[in-house]
Amino acid sequence: MDPRAYEKILEDKFAKRFDKDRWYYSIELKPGFYTPGGNYKNIALTRKLLSRCDIQGLDCLDVACADGLIPTLMHRRGARHVVGCDRNDFGMKIRQLKARLGLEMEYNPLVTQQQIVDLSNKSERLGFDVVVNSGLLYHVFNTLGTMCLSRSLVRTDGIMIVETAGSSLNTYAEFFNAAGRMSPTDPTTFWYVTIKMMEYYGRMLRLEPIDAVFGPITENETKSLRFAIAFRATADYPAKPEDKWVQRTFEARDYMDLIDWSVLDHATTKPVGYDAPADLPSTGRGIDTMALLNQIGTYDAPLDEVRLPLGVTV
Ligand SMILES: C[S@@+](CC[C@H](N)C(=O)[O-])C[C@H]1O[C@@H](n2cnc3c(N)ncnc32)[C@H](O)[C@@H]1O
Repeated sequence: MDPRAYEKILEDKFAKRFDKDRWYYSIELKPGFYTPGGNYKNIALTRKLLSRCDIQGLDCLDVACADGLIPTLMHRRGARHVVGCDRNDFGMKIRQLKARLGLEMEYNPLVTQQQIVDLSNKSERLGFDVVVNSGLLYHVFNTLGTMCLSRSLVRTDGIMIVETAGSSLNTYAEFFNAAGRMSPTDPTTFWYVTIKMMEYYGRMLRLEPIDAVFGPITENETKSLRFAIAFRATADYPAKPEDKWVQRTFEARDYMDLIDWSVLDHATTKPVGYDAPADLPSTGRGIDTMALLNQIGTYDAPLDEVRLPLGVTV
């Protein structure tokens, strides 16, 4: 079948799945009335890290915003400019949030990750202060490539928050969801990246891990979980000095093709404020995420940290 014809089928399927009555998130639109969302607990991890980030007056982007919970929080917390994008079209829901909650944001539906980078370049914005990439990486074919594209959007000394389904095994790896072995029902779930691998991807892309939180672990072969890491964008490689290899990965053609450093390496403004908990286990440059998992354990969020009540800002 012609892929473009298939695209149309998928769009129709998506439109039926998310018709006017079905929402991704539960957001309180008027006292006591919540949109009928799925209450997926991962968003509590993203929210916890975002709550530690001082976004007042900053330019913020959510690269896969669905029906707008994170942009609503960004707007309520005084971001200067809120941009949301999604590969699907949640425009009908975003319009409701704008009308009922006074949400102000720029919404871009039906965009690929590559197109988000183009949007940013065209706007001459020279990188966002805060970028959220939540609930996306396990849906894409190429985890590291998509990380590169998000990295292209955050300015030096800005913050990038990444949340994904993954594996808690203590190794550098990604596990493929072959025959649905970790996620049997979702045909768009592919890679379970380990926490340790994600930390290293960050270091390779000049992102220093500064904080992390972990959801409950499932007892399957990859000990899968949801986890979120907050990274600070740095001008150098936040790796151990003896790791000479990572500092030469810029020689890879993909490093130049997938990350537009010219946009990001402009004169930096002040670092985005981030209030990380004290005494996190450190590698010397940023946190040791697996040591942190051992230290703080996992977190099973209550419903109140998943749905969004009126006026709540974190
Ligand atoms: C699991 S939801 C996560 C939504 C939200 N970011 C969160 O963390 O709650 C995945 C979102 O990514 C969007 N998306 C963006 N690019 C995608 C892609 N290449 N494949 C699948 N979904 C994609 C979907 O439309 C959907 O809104």
